[in-house]
Amino acid sequence: QCPFGGDRIGGAFGSRPALENWYPHRLRVELLHQNGLAADPLGPDFDYAAAFQAIDLDALKGDIKQFLTSSVSWWPSDYGNYGPQMIRMAWHSAGTYRIADGRGGAGTGMQRFAPISSWWDNGNTDKSRRLLQPIKHKYGNALSWADLMVLTGNCALEIMGLPTYGFAGGRLDAWEADDATYWGPEVVEMGSVSSFDEMVNRDKRWRGKNGDAEYDLENPLAASHQALIYVNPEGPYANGDPQGSANDIRVTFTRMAMNDEETVALIAGGHAFGKSHGMVPAKEIGPPPEMAPMEAMGLGWHNPKGAGKDTMTNGIEGSWTPDPTKWDNAYLENLFKFDWEQTKSPAGALQWTPKDPNAPRTPDAHVAGQSHPLMMMTSDIALKVDPEYRKVCEKFLGDFDAFTQAFSKAWYKLTHRDMGPKHRYLGPEATIEDGLLWQDPIPDAAYAPVGEAEIAALKQAILATGLSVSDLAFTAFSAASTYRDSDKRGGANGARLALAPQKDWAVNRRAVPVVEALRGVMSGFNGGRGDGKQVSLADLIVLAGCVAVEKAARDAGVEARVPFTPGRVDTTQALTDVEMFTWLKPVADGFRNYVDDGFAAMAPRLSPEEMFLDKANLLTLTAPEWVVLTGGLRALNANHDGSTRGVFTDRVGVLTTDFFRTLTDTNLIWEKADAAGTSFALKDRESGQAKYEATRNDLVFGSNAQLRNIADAYAGSDGQRRFVADFVRVWDKVMMLDRYDVKGHRRQG
Ligand code: HEM
Repeated sequence: QCPFGGDRIGGAFGSRPALENWYPHRLRVELLHQNGLAADPLGPDFDYAAAFQAIDLDALKGDIKQFLTSSVSWWPSDYGNYGPQMIRMAWHSAGTYRIADGRGGAGTGMQRFAPISSWWDNGNTDKSRRLLQPIKHKYGNALSWADLMVLTGNCALEIMGLPTYGFAGGRLDAWEADDATYWGPEVVEMGSVSSFDEMVNRDKRWRGKNGDAEYDLENPLAASHQALIYVNPEGPYANGDPQGSANDIRVTFTRMAMNDEETVALIAGGHAFGKSHGMVPAKEIGPPPEMAPMEAMGLGWHNPKGAGKDTMTNGIEGSWTPDPTKWDNAYLENLFKFDWEQTKSPAGALQWTPKDPNAPRTPDAHVAGQSHPLMMMTSDIALKVDPEYRKVCEKFLGDFDAFTQAFSKAWYKLTHRDMGPKHRYLGPEATIEDGLLWQDPIPDAAYAPVGEAEIAALKQAILATGLSVSDLAFTAFSAASTYRDSDKRGGANGARLALAPQKDWAVNRRAVPVVEALRGVMSGFNGGRGDGKQVSLADLIVLAGCVAVEKAARDAGVEARVPFTPGRVDTTQALTDVEMFTWLKPVADGFRNYVDDGFAAMAPRLSPEEMFLDKANLLTLTAPEWVVLTGGLRALNANHDGSTRGVFTDRVGVLTTDFFRTLTDTNLIWEKADAAGTSFALKDRESGQAKYEATRNDLVFGSNAQLRNIADAYAGSDGQRRFVADFVRVWDKVMMLDRYDVKGHRRQG
């Protein structure tokens, strides 16, 4: 009989309710496997760099530019030019980036997937991407969506007269929706609200009142409201207050790593082009793509009146300049030349119009011979009202070349901010300059790298320092584990562990004397050599970790060779943006059993183990990799303070499976050691004798079912060899996370 027989079928694979509905507070370990290799149709052998570089970039740009000045009937171009809507698409693809966790951004083309695809602010970007589909198909997998979106933005700027600062390909597409990035606390089911205003009024992410000193947005967020890229164009809560809007703009653009000058350049530069669309009330518009009916084939926001002259996107209607397809200074000129008064769009949104009836007008985007008054949004008036933004505007008003240069550079930063090391930048138009500090520059080596013989000698020299296995492993891990895959920043390369701000972080204190000792090894090796070979501090720090892990394995009775790939180069303090690196400072790091003093107050809704999961994700670890890495780090004692918490072994520094054996030992019981349940004591069940101390970041591997079952796989009698082999593999993976100079552009397993 058919298993689905009978006349009642209530569910199928994936039907709701899901685990989250039953157990809302469970740790979602399985999210580590999101967007993994299994989801990627191109597989691990696909070499994106080779494919992309085989494209004739000039021909591709020619195709895009030809398309930009065309028009199709199902979505006619405004003013006969798709450029402005493509700039908005590209800006929104990059504009989700936030500096606090490096997530968001243009890097993986996430605008194609929920939730971002269906945010209110991304209205009709689905059409922009659909219009590009023929070009995507022509170039196939050699051109990712992520690269195509940014490149189209650049082409659009170029055909309208803005000289761009460069374009680099190299973004590998994601292949599934992101169910894990934290986009804010508000639970608003899209579609359960009938207007945008209703939706934004439910937000919970702000502290204090707009304009007060303590006014602040919760981290890591960088948008003022749910489902927006940055701020509400109608002002905070659509209240039409330009100064309030400026306050929100400053908070949110700072979170995107933009200063006041870059912020003004971007907004004023972007709004030199195109128009806003608000011909139809929001309630008449269909649901976003993720909720649209099947026959809409992935497109949302159905407008019953059609496209073109009746387009409805955001709700505000009109253009900022008389010539919306030309790069000029008219946006700022008109913003300052006229007094503006509040009006309403046909869709009912709040906007601004010049008081002067003789102000220039802007042509209709579709109907020849018709014209309209100019338009500004509250977020545009903000640039004139806020004293600091105003100063920048005045500078740009008096110096169009400076404005052009500032916009061009800020656009390049906006769209390339999450590309990571320069080795990821592909193509003839990639601009890499030491002056672009946001690229976290690392110079090229001016010497020959070390070979096998030198590596062997250096290993001996490291051992001869007498530094402990724990200290060496801790230091190497501290250097490498700043890496975050979200924006590919951090990592051991550059030896920034020895530079401000990292050298001063409490979590790294234990590394300071180790780095000093390794400097001694380095000068001993580099001084007075005649063969042109040198070793970098960055390489030595990683090599020290190899030495430690090999010794720890040997002491556990297993011979292991830890791979070492030299070639790291030391960077300088002058090439390090201290403020921007401060964002990489962990507030909690379970690998080193570290929780910042103020963590509980800082993150009242978050547990340390959730931050631990977050960190594991940023290091691209799978659940088994997370488990084995932590077990090894505890055996080595890589705790930030050298404490014994979680170090469930009498043989510290030996790569045993003791962490897992203790964790799963039924003779032991655990008790809270404080009322809040942040630390625990392990006792012998029979004698009651205290044996070990633990934190939540230790016990989670015994309490969470998925992690515990993996721990079991190592705790058994046959676990030791597998453990060492797996630990070494994951250790090397972490050490190599930032090594795009040797890894290339393949999807990592
Ligand atoms: C259009 C808001 C910053 C480029 C729009 C629209 C809104 C908006 C509401 C109209 C969408 C529609 O109905 O079609 C904002 C706000 C910003 C901001 C609140 C920040 C405070 C930027 C930046 C850029 C940009 C930084 C690019 C560098 C554009 C372009 C359009 C546009 C080119 C015209 C799109 C078209 O013609 O279809 N913006 N924007 N905007 N925005 Fe922005």
